[in-house]
Amino acid sequence: MRRRIARALARPLVLAAAGAAIPPATAAPAVADSIVIGGFPVDVAHSPWTVALVSRDRFGGTRAGQFCGGVVVGRTAVLTAAHCMAGEVVGAPPTRDLKVITGRTDLLSRQGKDIPVRAIWANPHYDADTNAGDFAVLTLAEPVPQSSVIPLAGAGDPAYVPGTSATVYGWGDTTGTAAYAHSLHAARVHVLPDGRCERAYPSGSEDGTYTAGSMLCAGEATGGRDACQGDSGGPLVARGRLIGLVSWGSGCGRAGSPGVYTRVSDVVRTLRQVLGADKAPHRAPGAS
Ligand code: ARG
Repeated sequence: MRRRIARALARPLVLAAAGAAIPPATAAPAVADSIVIGGFPVDVAHSPWTVALVSRDRFGGTRAGQFCGGVVVGRTAVLTAAHCMAGEVVGAPPTRDLKVITGRTDLLSRQGKDIPVRAIWANPHYDADTNAGDFAVLTLAEPVPQSSVIPLAGAGDPAYVPGTSATVYGWGDTTGTAAYAHSLHAARVHVLPDGRCERAYPSGSEDGTYTAGSMLCAGEATGGRDACQGDSGGPLVARGRLIGLVSWGSGCGRAGSPGVYTRVSDVVRTLRQVLGADKAPHRAPGAS
């Protein structure tokens, strides 16, 4: 049941543990300068809301222990994917070593800040079979500047109209062959009609089931540009607003298999409740 998710993250885990080197760019196949897949390098100063989730204890010191992405949505609030907070990923209880890195373009540098996570709220309704409800909220131990906070797209935001140009950010696999980036990349994709993902991922599909109300379909009809493993939880941005979180897909950048994102307008209400109830006892890292 949870095996699919475990498999998706198994490679980063194993690679980091083994200290395997990232293959040189020249060794990469077809989509060489990719990311995320088919993307380009960017400076995090231009997308300060993009953060890396790291644990050196669980993923090793290479690339600072990065295993997922996240987005700053409040001065002490980071949105990410629920599957990034699964026990197989962060441990159960979650590792005390879970941190959020802000302001660091290159994971091999000392730029920016490592901020400990004070509390984790993972959506209890997340379904690991369909991938519905794939979001979690991390509370930071110290605030980041207000200028790092990205506005959220609400229901009916024109940024959701199919054809809208959007950008996805992450430190994930740039080729679909476990070539994990150490520098932040971005890829330009388009919001696609729900029908594209409904056709690609009908009920019972191996990688998940597309549900229009809570998910968002994005990519390119011809493939090539997409998010990939290691980008999960990271931002999909259109018209200056956060519209999606990297969630899942079948392979990366394949024509006919678009990327599937958690639809941000569908999480706004829950997010407000979680942030409003900030005094409530969330799962603290390292606590049982
Ligand atoms: N599940 C992946 C992760 O954990 C993200 C996959 C996104 N895939 C895609 N083709 N858009 O990083």
